[in-house]
Amino acid sequence: MKSILPTLLIIMIIMSCTKHKKTQGQADVTSEIASNDTFKKWWKEGVLYQIYPQSFNDTDGDGFGDFRGVIEKLDYLERLGITMVWMNPFFESPLVDNGYDVSNYKAIHPRYGTMDDFQEMMDGMQARGIKFVLDVVVNHSSNEHEWFKQACSSRDNKYYNYYHWWPAEKGKPPHRHSLFDPEGGWDYVESNNSYYLHTFAEEQPDLNWENPKVRQEVYDIMKFWAKKGVNGFRMDAFQFVSKDTTFPQFPKGHEKDFAKWYGMGPHLHDYLKEMYNEVIEPYNVFAVAEGAGSTFQDAHDLVDADRNELQTAYHFDYVGLSRTPEGYTLSEFKEVFTKWDREFAEEGWLAIFLSNHDNSRLVNRFGNPSPEFRRVSTQMLNTFLLSMRGTPYTYYGDELGMTNIDMPSIEEYVDVSAIGEYGMAKARGEDMEAFMKTLNYNSRENARTPMQWDDSQNAGFTTGIPWKRVNDNYTSINVAAQEKDPNSVLNHFKKMVKLRKDNEVLVYGAYTLLDKDNEEVYSFTRTLDDQKVLVLLNFTDHESEVTLPLIENTGEILINNYEDLVTKANTVNLKPYQAVIISMNH
Ligand code: NOJ
Repeated sequence: MKSILPTLLIIMIIMSCTKHKKTQGQADVTSEIASNDTFKKWWKEGVLYQIYPQSFNDTDGDGFGDFRGVIEKLDYLERLGITMVWMNPFFESPLVDNGYDVSNYKAIHPRYGTMDDFQEMMDGMQARGIKFVLDVVVNHSSNEHEWFKQACSSRDNKYYNYYHWWPAEKGKPPHRHSLFDPEGGWDYVESNNSYYLHTFAEEQPDLNWENPKVRQEVYDIMKFWAKKGVNGFRMDAFQFVSKDTTFPQFPKGHEKDFAKWYGMGPHLHDYLKEMYNEVIEPYNVFAVAEGAGSTFQDAHDLVDADRNELQTAYHFDYVGLSRTPEGYTLSEFKEVFTKWDREFAEEGWLAIFLSNHDNSRLVNRFGNPSPEFRRVSTQMLNTFLLSMRGTPYTYYGDELGMTNIDMPSIEEYVDVSAIGEYGMAKARGEDMEAFMKTLNYNSRENARTPMQWDDSQNAGFTTGIPWKRVNDNYTSINVAAQEKDPNSVLNHFKKMVKLRKDNEVLVYGAYTLLDKDNEEVYSFTRTLDDQKVLVLLNFTDHESEVTLPLIENTGEILINNYEDLVTKANTVNLKPYQAVIISMNH
């Protein structure tokens, strides 16, 4: 830690050029918090690292990552300082959606190893103080799950009611939009003369949660893993599990607001309370929801402590901000985070992420991937993520600043969602050149390339042929090189994780947005009891000045992605993508 203002590291510079000068007012949005002991939980204080298992580390040369590969990297995880791992699905599956189509929830896909390997991997994490979060994919199963195969055989089969069916003698079912299938959410099965429902791909039939037996199966699966020692569950697509089983016809164009029409069904809360009583409470685990409904009230109803349902959730509001190469404005970005923080200041808790396996890379979407600014802009984004309220979720490779790959032609895509979206765009008669440009930028395949460990062949990920091409930039962006470089994205990430863990103010402190309309610099404070820190983040590729009265009262610089910080009185001149956290004197 550096000791600073107003001594050594302050460089007093009188700026003759005030091109980017911003002189704005005081705090304009403040959120308070109740930081009492019942409010404090390990899953709020943790730093989560997400592992996409098939891309992390391959030890048997088949080109897919495996559990032994993670075991080999346990010390790496410990060195990162992270305290939780969420691993994407690794269950038996035909892998139409890379494991989000499960054919046996209690068995491991052989590609990843055995149950013993799983146990050794999880035990190894827990021995290092890292909790394990399991991905639970129970809105739908695979069409190769035994339940579905049986259900297809006849309407009299006991598994028929494990899924949603529309008997064909009633005619064609009312149209339902499918997120992955251009032809919609119903598919016909001849053997039982019925249509089955699928919110995602046709190989992912929706389970019928209205059937109590299905719910008991789900709890049984969760208990099976809880008994093995998993600490938490990430509930995939949970908001769609309860349905209006009359399946009404929704108005034209409704699919643009998918979660509103298809999510938060009539019995969702009953089911979640039941799940809480059956699994969450007795096994002392937590559950994080993928998605948080359509309104703040929905989100509160899901996660507030007195509801006894889920414990936390992540929303998607900022995902849309950078869906196109045109990008986003900083004020929109600030607004999203500020309004969610304000809404959850007193009750409830959220997880926050800027990237994951369903989005393209962090630095491409919110930073600057050019060789000149990739390092500092990723550091700036990691500073942001790790200094906000809400449990931070970091996606593998973002601790290095891994970037998108270039995939201009649809032929190279293997992802069921990319192929589905392509089909839908074609059916709508869209300009396919423009579509491909956007897909190339935002496809989730960008973020599934093999982890870049070193500059050896295939980035040290596999000795075989990688299932997905390694990003060409692995010779310069890799763990081995960054571990040696004190200024690397990786070393900055580790420092930032440690800073968060050492300073409760970064976990529980009230968030106050400053200088709200500044389109270049994001400034905010976090305050807890008598501790207060100031976070300054330059989101641009040029220097930018920020003037705030409280700068005169700053103390020690806690972290800085540059050597120095240029300040004069109540003004700071930030370098491109400079990110600093400074403690405040009282
Ligand atoms: C959300 C998951 O994150 C995504 O990867 C998957 O394709 C869908 N749910 C379907 O399970």
